[in-house]
Amino acid sequence: MKIGIGSDHGGFELKEYIKEYLEREGIEYVDYGTNSLESVDYPDYGKKLAEGVISKEVDRGIAICGTGIGISIACNKVRGIRAALCGDTYSARMSVEHNNANILALGGRVIGKDLAIEIVSTWLNSEFQGGRHGRRIDKISNIEA
Ligand code: RB5
Repeated sequence: MKIGIGSDHGGFELKEYIKEYLEREGIEYVDYGTNSLESVDYPDYGKKLAEGVISKEVDRGIAICGTGIGISIACNKVRGIRAALCGDTYSARMSVEHNNANILALGGRVIGKDLAIEIVSTWLNSEFQGGRHGRRIDKISNIEA
């Protein structure tokens, strides 16, 4: 599985920390920026990451800003994206099992780094359950259409 990862300045440090984890785990990734703590606009990075997921350059994405809110809203404007802002491992697992989330959003100024790694690990190891959940995802797609 190839992961895309993107952040604004508020998520930059957590992005770098998660990249180290992905490298340790041997998980391939594409970094969509930003590349420093210099102030940037989170919609630019959410869009790049979301488009990488939709074009299948990567299989899933991790989006980070200060709260995770702005970048998740931006990602969710791209058709086909289901970005889930998670601050706990239960939500991370459910976001995949029930919601088939293709982007995990995190708040770099909200959660601790080690909790973030547990959330990422849980999210990466979860699978969509399909069935009735598939019907509900189809209804979300219908809203988009
Ligand atoms: C940037 O200051 C901050 O607004 C951004 O990282 C994010 O938290 C927005 O939702």
